[in-house]
Parts: sequence; C-alpha cells; structure tokens
Amino acid sequence: MQENVIPHHFNITQVQRSSLKKHGAFLLWFTGLSGSGKSTIANALENTLYQKGIHTYTLDGDNVREGLNNNLSFSPEDRTENIRRIAEVANLMVDAGLVVLASFVSPYEQDRENIKKIVGANRYIEIFVNTSIEECERRDVKGLYAKARSGEIDNFTGINAPYEAPKSANIEIDTQNITIEEAVSIILNYIEEKLSL
Ligand code: ADX
Repeated sequence: MQENVIPHHFNITQVQRSSLKKHGAFLLWFTGLSGSGKSTIANALENTLYQKGIHTYTLDGDNVREGLNNNLSFSPEDRTENIRRIAEVANLMVDAGLVVLASFVSPYEQDRENIKKIVGANRYIEIFVNTSIEECERRDVKGLYAKARSGEIDNFTGINAPYEAPKSANIEIDTQNITIEEAVSIILNYIEEKLSL
C-alpha cells in the first residue's frame, strides 16, 4: 500500500526548529503500573520545565485513549498498537522541537524497544516509575484494582495481565522511598545536558 508514497523533503530541519526554541528536543517515556505515579511525576516535571521556558507537551494513557486511540482495547495486540501510535506522534512532536513527556503503562519490553526504534535511541529516555503492585493496589486512586479483583475488568496489568519491568531504564524512580520533588530533580539532572544545544 505504501509503495507509491514518496516522502517530500522539507527545507526546515529539526536542528533549525530546536535552535529557534533554544533547547534540545527528546522524549521522556514514563512506564509503570496503573497508579504508580507516572502522570503525577510527569505533571510536576512539566511545570518545572515550563517555568524554565522549555516547550513541552504531555501525552497520557487515559487521555489519548479517549481520542486518537479510542478504538483500542487492553488486549496485548491493541496495547502494542496503542504504544506504536503514541511513539509515532511523539516522534513528530520531537521533530517539531518539543520535549515530550509520555505516561503509558507500556507493559511489554518489545513495545518499548519499538518506541526507541521509532524515535531514535539518542532521543529516547525511559523512566521506570517503580511502585510495587501492593502499593498501587493499596492506593487504588481510580478504584480500578478493586474492580479488577472482583472480575469486572479483564486484562488488568498487574492483576491478570503481565507487566514486564524494564531491566535497563535510563532512570528508575522508587516512589515508595522518594518524594515527587526528588523525582523531578533526578530527572532534571539527567536531562540537563540534553536540554542545552
Ligand atoms: S497501555 O498498557 O496500553 O500502555 P495505557 O497507559 O494506554 O495502557 O492506559 C492505562 C490506563 O487505562 C490505566 O492508567 C487505567 O486507568 C486504565 N485501564 C483501564 N483498563 C485497564 C487495563 N485492563 N489494564 C491497564 N490499565 C487499564
């Protein structure tokens, strides 16, 4: 189907867009169980980046599944497609010169490897928000763990669907031992070099 599609090459490059914005562009990918704190940390980090004059955008599982990906379920195949589409969208946004923060459970190692391929290893930073299943279930902010336990939700990550924990994430945040502010500063430290041109 794609054999007659010939990409057009435009004059303005990613490097030029970044120099206009005066900072680097890359993807910060938050992975972890539902309720682990991905969106909370991403939100706090985006606030700080905004104060520093960094152009950002946040993509979040619950939000994207209401729009772009509202035809996808939580089957393994649909999760793969969910992550692939987000990676392609994030790639466009990084090309546009943004620092993109993406919070998705993204439970499969292979899907996360695919993000790295789509976006490019040097523009992909994986952040494992490591909160134990026991703690996520205890917090149960959205009441979804209770529903999954009672059999109301199938394929719920950590209960009756797998979570393949990253073995070599760029950053690991142990939310049971550090505060949100500490998490933000760990990430800021890590990206400092990538932010400067
Ligand atoms: S992913 O696995 O495809 O990456 P995604 O991050 O988009 O998942 O969506 C996860 C969010 O959807 C969770 O935070 C939770 O609020 C909600 N959700 C609803 N059903 C499920 C389920 N079966 N497994 C995981 N999360 C679910």
